[in-house]
Amino acid sequence: MTKEGFTLWFTGLSGAGKTTIAKLVEFLLQDKMKVRVQLLDGDLLREVINQDLGFSREDRMKQIKRAVFMTRLLNQNGVHVLASFITPYEEMREYCCSHIPNYHEVFVDCSLEECIQRDVKGLYKKAIAGQINQFTGISDPFEIPLEPDLILDTVTELPEESAEKVLSYILDKQLI
Ligand code: PPS
Ligand code: MG
Repeated sequence: MTKEGFTLWFTGLSGAGKTTIAKLVEFLLQDKMKVRVQLLDGDLLREVINQDLGFSREDRMKQIKRAVFMTRLLNQNGVHVLASFITPYEEMREYCCSHIPNYHEVFVDCSLEECIQRDVKGLYKKAIAGQINQFTGISDPFEIPLEPDLILDTVTELPEESAEKVLSYILDKQLI
């Protein structure tokens, strides 16, 4: 029987570094250690298969539930998953935790001030100007994760350092 894969679920504000760190971890695992992993990213899923969804609480829940469904399929077939979604509500993270057997929550912790300062995609500027509704951290809540398995402080750490911490976590927990 195939051994169930693990899931690292990266949660955090837009611009906190979820995608960047998940991609670095993907590289370390896949290219360097020859471990099969699949990256599932919020932006990509919304662009490709969840074009029907916006950012209301209901739509965000759907986005997460569909992502969890895909994650389950992959994990059941032995593929490890790196999932990067804002996942702003505790209810969502509880859903993830209760539906993904080998779930590990990584809080990509970055202050709102720093995210606004970085504003890589220019979305914060628009949200503050009132041009984007229900923007996480500005006009929609981000509930701080209550019990993350790992916290990455991306205000003080470089993405490469955060990725190394994730790798150490994976090795410590003997996930691979
Ligand atoms: S969620 O809340 O978990 O369903 O969000 P997610 O699927 O990860 O999608 C977040 C990306 O969507 C872009 N974007 C927004 N984010 C938050 N709020 C609003 N209103 C919004 N509109 C667009 C943004 O590029 C997010 O990507 P990241 O990588 O987090 O910056
Ligand atoms: Mg991203």
